[in-house]
Amino acid sequence: MTMQRHQYDVVIVGAGGAGLMAALYATKKGAKTAVLSKLYPTRSHTGAAQGGIGAALGNLEEDHPEWHTFDTVKGSDYLGDQDAIEFMCYQAPAIVYELEHMGLPFSRTPDGRIAQRPFGGHTNNRTGKPVRRACYAADRTGHMILQTLYQQSIKHNVTFFNEFQVLDLILVNGKVAGVVAIDIATGTIHVFHTKAVVFATGGWGRLWEITSNAYTLTGDGAAILFRRGLPLEDMEFYQFHPTGIYKLGILITEGVRGEGGVLINDKGERFMERYAPTVKDLASRDVVSRAIYIEIKEGRGINGQRYVYLDVRPETVNKYAAIDGRTRPDGSPYVVTAEELLQKLPDIIDFSRTYLGIDPMAEPIPVQPTAHYAMGGIPTNIKAEVLADEKGTVVPGLYAAGETACVSVHGANRLGTNSLLDIVVFGKQAGIHAAEYALGTDFEPLPKDAADFAISQLETLRNSKGSERIADIANEMKRVMMDHVGVFRTEEGLTEALNTIRELKERYKHIHLDDRGKIFNTELLSAWELGNLLDLAEVTTVSALARTESRGAHWREDYPKRDDKNWLKHTLAWKRENGEIELRYKPVVITKYPPKERVY
Ligand code: FUM
Repeated sequence: MTMQRHQYDVVIVGAGGAGLMAALYATKKGAKTAVLSKLYPTRSHTGAAQGGIGAALGNLEEDHPEWHTFDTVKGSDYLGDQDAIEFMCYQAPAIVYELEHMGLPFSRTPDGRIAQRPFGGHTNNRTGKPVRRACYAADRTGHMILQTLYQQSIKHNVTFFNEFQVLDLILVNGKVAGVVAIDIATGTIHVFHTKAVVFATGGWGRLWEITSNAYTLTGDGAAILFRRGLPLEDMEFYQFHPTGIYKLGILITEGVRGEGGVLINDKGERFMERYAPTVKDLASRDVVSRAIYIEIKEGRGINGQRYVYLDVRPETVNKYAAIDGRTRPDGSPYVVTAEELLQKLPDIIDFSRTYLGIDPMAEPIPVQPTAHYAMGGIPTNIKAEVLADEKGTVVPGLYAAGETACVSVHGANRLGTNSLLDIVVFGKQAGIHAAEYALGTDFEPLPKDAADFAISQLETLRNSKGSERIADIANEMKRVMMDHVGVFRTEEGLTEALNTIRELKERYKHIHLDDRGKIFNTELLSAWELGNLLDLAEVTTVSALARTESRGAHWREDYPKRDDKNWLKHTLAWKRENGEIELRYKPVVITKYPPKERVY
């Protein structure tokens, strides 16, 4: 097989917001940096984030980084590490202004400041009422962050290898020595000799049937490290966003509820009043997703179906704003027009027209919870260094940031807007620290067989003589994950899921590919990605089965209470050489906020 070699101080894997921020900072620090992305960078999934980036700017009303910190701790159901959360929330205002100064076109207040809207779980800590903390660019905030960071990367001469799929990490004596990638266009294998690697490869929503995640979100970085003997943290905590388009899962931003939209059941009730009397539709996502499931289970889905309505028609918004006593920042009653909503939510109005054929200004939108975000992932510390164990041992030269990492700032449940904040804060950390490390150390010698494992994985798939179709295996995995490792879980369901996933892993050994060529062999790469998803499905289910409590997004119907005595701890999972998964645990970092019951 033809092979090419490269040498860089720092290699970044992934070109979403975290990867681009890391690349910018590593380059600015003087490290020779390359970004490897399986997509053209501006197609990365950061571009799908809609509603806003959280920062206590206080542009429209009183707000404080400490309130943001507390809300994030509470939203995490007290599983988030409080030192990391405090760091992120206090960095937020400066980093949002940094993005603004890079040219990010935020929406504006009438007096020209960055506009802010309410979002789930973000509150005025004195009143408990929603606070305007989400800084937004209409409902295209992630898209604008991605474009801005990519433009900055071009300006700073960052080197990109686009449509390069990274397949493996090379460790020598426990230190980073390189990565192996395939150039998707030609099928050529490339070995990147490097001193530091940042994994910023995003999440793995493609494990589930209904998801807001793009086809590319297959957990590649997490799976590569897991296979290399490194642990994954808190994999049982996976977030379902309450409002995906019915059957399709495409995200309808929480910003809709921030602008006054409400969830309605078949009886026409605004049911969130019953589940979260203070913040109602703006409770945290785990609470709202469970409420929708309960409404559906109890027969109050629309026409008895598996969806409810998200109603953002101006007359509905104005009716409930009056009931809630909602006001504008100047104290006047909150009254919206279709024109204002169109300006603030252009994409979701467009999506509803395109995918559902409805006009949300005239009709409510059918929505259901959609698999959205991994709270768990590659364990890291505040410097974005990857951790090898429960003692916090750092893997020299290895960094991770963004959704694939677990710092842990989201704990058991992430607040909306904190993912965009996470990617820029910890992407920056990763870039700075990877560059500092790389500039102060030598290259490890690259082993002669560096690419062998990656090549053998691909060749085994390419030459497999079985008859199993990858789409059949993927569909079965998604179904079982949706049915049993979703919003509600039980021991029985999780066990069934685990058995099925293990059967699917066996079937995966006997797949059949139609395309055995080299050029743009997307079938081969889909098969490789499916292997990643199956590994992550297994570790997610094993971790969920072990955690006999309900916390945040992990809701066990057979253990419906949070159990701080036994379970206020992070899960770490390793894949051992015999293929078994070993679980160990480490304590949560608690600095200021001892666990309390969450009331919204
Ligand atoms: O609802 C949304 O706009 C999603 C934002 C997020 O996941 O943070």
